Amino acid sequence: MALNKVDFRIGRGELIGLIGPNGAGKTTLFHVVSGIYHPDYGSVLFKGEDISKLRPDAICRRGLARTFQIVRPFSHMTVIENVMVGAIFGRNPRDKTEAERRSAEILDSVGLSEKRGAQVGTLTLADRKRLEVARALATDPELILLDEVMSGLTPTEITQAMALIKKLNDAGTTLLLIEHVMKVIMEISHRIVVLDRGQKIMEGSPREVAADERVRQAYLGERYAV
Ligand SMILES: Nc1ncnc2c1ncn2[C@@H]1O[C@H](COP(=O)(O)OP(=O)(O)OP(=O)(O)O)[C@@H](O)[C@H]1O
Ligand SMILES: [Mg+2]
Repeated sequence: MALNKVDFRIGRGELIGLIGPNGAGKTTLFHVVSGIYHPDYGSVLFKGEDISKLRPDAICRRGLARTFQIVRPFSHMTVIENVMVGAIFGRNPRDKTEAERRSAEILDSVGLSEKRGAQVGTLTLADRKRLEVARALATDPELILLDEVMSGLTPTEITQAMALIKKLNDAGTTLLLIEHVMKVIMEISHRIVVLDRGQKIMEGSPREVAADERVRQAYLGERYAV
């Protein structure tokens, strides 16, 4: 069983961290919330409505977007064309001109402006992660699920990515963030949910989570201190 009775809430405007060891079920949880997998039982509520049987595209149009840990760009298209797909088919459908204008803005915010005309195949992994974020943002999400978008980034790039996430949150976007970079999670999360072997083992403030014995044993180790 990949996920077993995992239960938690995210309030509008919150920035929540999701952590746990490799194979804990974090990405699977994103698949369930975003409609890639349907749960065998239990439900996913978004803005009070049950979305657990909806398709990913319908969930996206309701304002819930996600990125993929294993990136999935349209490889035969350019960078900006990839982002335009989100701008055209997301929560606020746009015509091509408006989609291009909005996509250029988003590429600027994630630091990919200079590569807007590049074929996706020429991008580094870090840039492909940025593109994942840009594609998700282009759908105008109210809630965005980010799956390890900072892996492979340099410390300077991580600082930039954190600034972008804070800016999105300040503008009212709700975020759920999977990240193994503890500095990031501990610094920006309002609250942290910890998964281990498909179950939620802890939920609390960064300080509470870092001090929790179960979390230390399952994931953080003894040396981590906030
Ligand atoms: N399609 C699948 N079929 C069978 N087992 C799967 C499938 N996808 C994932 N799993 C298994 O489910 C468990 C949870 O995997 P998941 O990818 O959700 O972990 P994760 O917490 O995201 O790990 P990581 O930190 O390494 O990304 C793992 O044991 C994984 O091998
Ligand atoms: Mg994962």
